[in-house]
Formats: sequence, C-alpha cells, structure tokens
Amino acid sequence: MPKTAVKKSPAKASASADLPLSFDTLCIQGGYDPKFGEPRILPIIQSTTYKYDDIDHVNRIMTLQAFGHKYSRTSNPTVAGFEGRLNLLEGGAATVATASGQAANVLAISNIVKAGDHVLAATQLYGGTFTLLNSTLKKFGVNTTFFDADAPTRDIEKLVRPETRLIFGETIGNPGLSILDFDKLSGIAKKHGIPFVVDNSLATAWLCQPFLHGANIVTYSATKYIDGHATSIGGAVIDGGNFDWTNGKFPDFTTPDPTYNGVVYAEKFPQSPFLIKARAQFLRDFGGCLSPMNAFLFNLGLETLHLRMPRHGENALALARFLAKHPKVAWLNYPGIDATGKKRIAKYFRHNNGSGILTFGVKGGMDAVRRFVKKLKVAALVVHVADARTGVLHPASSTHAQMNPEQLKAAGISLDTIRVTVGLEDVGDLIHDFDQALA
Ligand SMILES: Cc1ncc(COP(=O)(O)O)c(C=O)c1O
Repeated sequence: MPKTAVKKSPAKASASADLPLSFDTLCIQGGYDPKFGEPRILPIIQSTTYKYDDIDHVNRIMTLQAFGHKYSRTSNPTVAGFEGRLNLLEGGAATVATASGQAANVLAISNIVKAGDHVLAATQLYGGTFTLLNSTLKKFGVNTTFFDADAPTRDIEKLVRPETRLIFGETIGNPGLSILDFDKLSGIAKKHGIPFVVDNSLATAWLCQPFLHGANIVTYSATKYIDGHATSIGGAVIDGGNFDWTNGKFPDFTTPDPTYNGVVYAEKFPQSPFLIKARAQFLRDFGGCLSPMNAFLFNLGLETLHLRMPRHGENALALARFLAKHPKVAWLNYPGIDATGKKRIAKYFRHNNGSGILTFGVKGGMDAVRRFVKKLKVAALVVHVADARTGVLHPASSTHAQMNPEQLKAAGISLDTIRVTVGLEDVGDLIHDFDQALA
C-alpha cells in the first residue's frame, strides 16, 4: 500500500530524556521510565492499597492538595503507565483509563453535562453509545439530538440550543464507516463555545490524532485496536487541554466543589481541569476504573499498534477490492476506496490507510446473509471489532438491534449489512475464505 508522508506527531519526549521521539518509539517506550535495577517491562502492581506514614499526607492526597496513589479505584501505577503512553501517542494533556469503552464515553459526557443539558451527536455511532445517548442519559435529564455528520454546517448549527453542551462523533463511525469532517464539526463547536468529543477507537492515534484537528476530548474503547487480540475490556478518556471551561457555560469547573473542600478545578488545575475532575469525581463516585492486569495487556498492545495497524488496513483494502468486484456482492463500503473517505484520509489521517473495518451486502437477502456467515471458515461470527483474527457480524440483528429502520438507515446500516473486522491473517487466505463462502 502506498504511504504518504507521516504528519508529525505532537508527542515530544520520552519520560527519561528530552529527545524528540517518533510515534513508533513512543508506542514501545513512552510513558514508562524505569530507573537503575527496576523492571524493564511495566510491572503489574496488583494492589488496591498504598502505604503512608502520616495522616496529614493522606489528607492532602484525599483533598487534591497533593498527588499520589491512594486507592486503585482512582489511580494505580500500572494503569498510570498505560495512561501515560496513550497520552503521549494522542498528544493529550492528561488521560484517565476506564473499565470499558462504554465507561469512557459515560465519563466523558457526564463530566460535562448535567440534567437539563443537551448533546449533539452524529448518527453514525456504535450501538451502545447510541442507546446511552438516546435512552439511558435521557432518564438523567440529558437529551440528545442526532445529526447527519455530512450535512451542511448551517443544518447542523440549527440544532445547537442554548443548553447544548457538547458535540460527539466517532472518527470512523461504527459501522457506517464515515470519517468525520473534523474542520466542520470543530468549527461549529468552537463557534458555540462547546467541546468537541471524539471516539477514536476504530482509527487509533496511529491513523488520526483528533487534537490536531480541533477535538477537545478523545475517548477510546481500548478493547479494540489498542488491545488488538480480543483479550480485555477497557477504555480511556484523553483531555486535549485545549478547551476554555471558564467561558460561562460550565459552572462545575469554575465554582467550588464541596466534595473536595471547595476546590475550583479551572483555577487549581488550569492545565487539565477536565481530567482532574473526571478522575476525582467520576472514578470516586461511579467507579468504572481499569484493572492493573488489563492496563498491562493494553500497554503491551500499544507496543505493536504501529505494526498491526498498517496490516489491518492493507488486508482490508485488498479484501474490499476483491469484494467490490464479486458478482454475489450487492454493495461494499470501505473508506479506503470510497471517494469522500479517501479525501478525508488524505486530510486528517497520518497514513494512507482506511483502518481494518469494511461492510458489504450479499445478494439474496437475509437467507443469503445467514448462509454466507455459516460457510466462513477462517473468519468467525463474533460480536467484536479490531481483533488480530478476522470476524464478521450482522449489526442490524446484534449491536444495533435496538434501532428502528430510520435510525438504522441514519447509522449507515441496512438489513443486509455484514460488518467485517479484517484481521492480520494472510490476505490470500481471507479472500479464499470469503470467495468459498459467497459461492
Ligand atoms: C466505537 C466504539 N466505541 C465504544 C465502544 C464500547 O466499548 P467497550 O465494548 O469497550 O465498552 C465500542 C464497542 O464496540 C465501539 O465500537
């Protein structure tokens, strides 16, 4: 696959030296800086608890007057190692890891909104994020309007209300596969003084660093390409440190928090009030923290991210080209061959690569879909994306089964949509497998 010049990563330095390091080196060494005699590998600190000598020190930590691990619900050294590495790769101000990608999106949104507030979200979303916004958050008094992210600016702007507090979208919609027009959406967010929150799970920082394109908060299902081997559930929220929380719309950042002795986040932590508040309030009150074991595995996953992502994209492109010409394939969607997708890849992605997910329809309706899925031998039917192993799924009957026909259409899903997460196998074997199953 041809490679375009890699745009410079905003990440600057290793933990130990002031050398500028490339993205690939940060994948392997970023965020963990062992000293003499310490483990070369980020260790798993399987401890809930940390020992202290005096109660005043503990009090300072508990009241945000000092930093330090106190209890692993709010921080842990292994989890901090993973957070640090991901933060460098994204070019963020600070990162907090969460128990799942769902927990990451709940954290990012609930750290901004309160009852009575309004969210604007792109229609092309993972099904769980859609139900979170369309159903569960409604019960907490937070309403969401969904918009077509490819609609003209003025149509989207009409949906902004005085109580709108954030714009949400996925870099690559799951499974609609539209790539966000970052300039347009970040422009709208900026004009209205609200943060632009982006779920970067299907692209990863290897492909796209949303902070370079106007995003303010990035979320992850680390379960996806960061893990990459379908072993662990987890997530993360990264604060770009580039949003003005003091613009009058976000009093939780500018007024005293009585649960922390009256701390005012925007005053005390001007570099990253969003993230400090998220960790201090959300992890304390809702839990949803990442386990040290999963942080260890995600950290290991990041070490090969820069090697795996090119192959996922190359395999997906080859399979997409094969399927696009297959007589039994009704339609095919892959950003790496779609005209708008290619334009956005050139503009916003660090590499000429459309990631590893594609969708297509088989001719012959649901019966054909059922028969095709049953016949696959290398690829398996799984409720997952972004694994080293190729998998397929029928979103309309699984991850997006809760949507009505209109919502499905807006999400870029038809009844015959088969989503393929293209793995790292030999692409000839994959093509052969899809060919025999289609036959
Ligand atoms: C884009 C996206 N965001 C968030 C999630 C939720 O992540 P998790 O399954 O880790 O909770 C998913 C899950 O598939 C996803 O695809």
